[in-house]
Amino acid sequence: MAAKALMLLLCAVVLSLGFPPSCSQQQQQQQQQRRQPFAGNKLPNPISSSTAVFKVNGNVYPHGVYYVTVYIGDPPKPYYLDIDTGSDLTWLQCDAPCISCTPGLPHPLYKPRKRNIVPCKDTACQSLHSQHPYPPCINDDDQCDYQIEYADQASSLGVLVRDSFLLQFANGSISRPYLVLGCGYDQKSSTVASHAPLDGVLGVGLGKSSMMSQLSGHGLIKNVFAHCFGPKGGYLFFGDGLIPRGVTWTPLTRNKDMHSASPGPANLILERSSNVIKDLTVVFDSGSSYTYFSDRAYKPVVSTVTRGLSGKFKEALEDKTLPLCWKGPKRLKSVAEMNKYAKLMPLVLGFGKKAQLEIPPENYLIVSDQGNVCLGILNGTEMGLNDLNIIGDVSMQNLIVIYDNENRQIGWIPADCDRLHNAEETIFYSNGGDDEGFLQGISRPYPSTWESYL
Ligand SMILES: *[C@@H]1O[C@H](CO)[C@@H](O)[C@H](O)[C@H]1NC(C)=O
Ligand SMILES: *[C@@H]1O[C@H](CO)[C@@H](O)[C@H](O)[C@H]1NC(C)=O
Repeated sequence: MAAKALMLLLCAVVLSLGFPPSCSQQQQQQQQQRRQPFAGNKLPNPISSSTAVFKVNGNVYPHGVYYVTVYIGDPPKPYYLDIDTGSDLTWLQCDAPCISCTPGLPHPLYKPRKRNIVPCKDTACQSLHSQHPYPPCINDDDQCDYQIEYADQASSLGVLVRDSFLLQFANGSISRPYLVLGCGYDQKSSTVASHAPLDGVLGVGLGKSSMMSQLSGHGLIKNVFAHCFGPKGGYLFFGDGLIPRGVTWTPLTRNKDMHSASPGPANLILERSSNVIKDLTVVFDSGSSYTYFSDRAYKPVVSTVTRGLSGKFKEALEDKTLPLCWKGPKRLKSVAEMNKYAKLMPLVLGFGKKAQLEIPPENYLIVSDQGNVCLGILNGTEMGLNDLNIIGDVSMQNLIVIYDNENRQIGWIPADCDRLHNAEETIFYSNGGDDEGFLQGISRPYPSTWESYL
């Protein structure tokens, strides 16, 4: 069974439904900070601008998650964090002591010191509580508690702490900023499927508590985040120094209640514009392994794919990898191999007048361990997402996806995620020692704890 993470802040989901439950009121009160677009030009300037690059591990199937190694604390210790553009708070499972933590974690639990604890009077606590008011503060000197819940009902309860993060910029210089993170001592796991036992979550959403907002608040880098996910992992970067030329950009909506990156309404174009589903609300969520379409878009996608596969393929009811799988004339090793037997069109999402996101079969199908093809787009209505459509990792593969919060836009460009572009110059990785050989495209084996879980 594939892990099916769906890390997206619950409020964002609930809000899109158009009725205001408890968390929406809190969010409306929140004054979202909005920066002026910066005037500088955006020519790629590989190593002079401050940019920190991290190697990413994982894949869509079978791991179901992409994660990064981040060094936190004094002395710095490594932790595996799930990369989540659908939420803001970065948190680690921690020993405070731990009431409920995932068994078999890859690293020893993070242990905060007393002086790391963020008090209620701290502005970081106030801005977090404007989004997640529970549990509330009583006295100024109390510790700042938090609780967050994701769309798949996974949750983390804990206390806010401030600790040092080790960052190595692409030019080689090192910085150890103190950033706010959650020390989560009571986690509930997802109802969808078991999460891989990661140490925590890297929150890189749009809100004030996010890693990006904090780093740009410290003046270290611009509020720009990008990831490139491929079949063998990939990389991510903080800052604007590695944005390539030729990116397709589209503005992010100005809905201050949205934590995840959402461009304006999208049209889904099936089979070369003969079939268009209009005005879909779409978010880009790296914390979701698969793509979720609301019934309105899901239904026509299922019939289009089923029709495209009919003839040589028949439904494989015995394969429970994902809700819909098909068996071909022989056991398949890759989606590319499927193309020999069936011709499937890319799905196209059109934003505004020009921006198009092409989703080729490789980005909406997976090949299961039984050699069948399975649809990597799931029924979001069934998940309670109602009208929300989530572009998950499966559909962002082999693309650099750039969340530019300075200019409130999102962009993408096809790329080979095994190799960092502009890599003719020496680029230093923030997760240093883990990544020897990365520039040569050598992927390292997954840690043993990780594999034994799978
Ligand atoms: C590298 O970039 C950082 C951030 O812009 C800057 O503070 C530092 O001075 C630079 N270091 C070198 C060696 O150029
Ligand atoms: C998607 O899920 C909803 C809610 O469970 C269901 O009514 C609908 O039939 C499903 N759509 C498809 C195409 O299976």
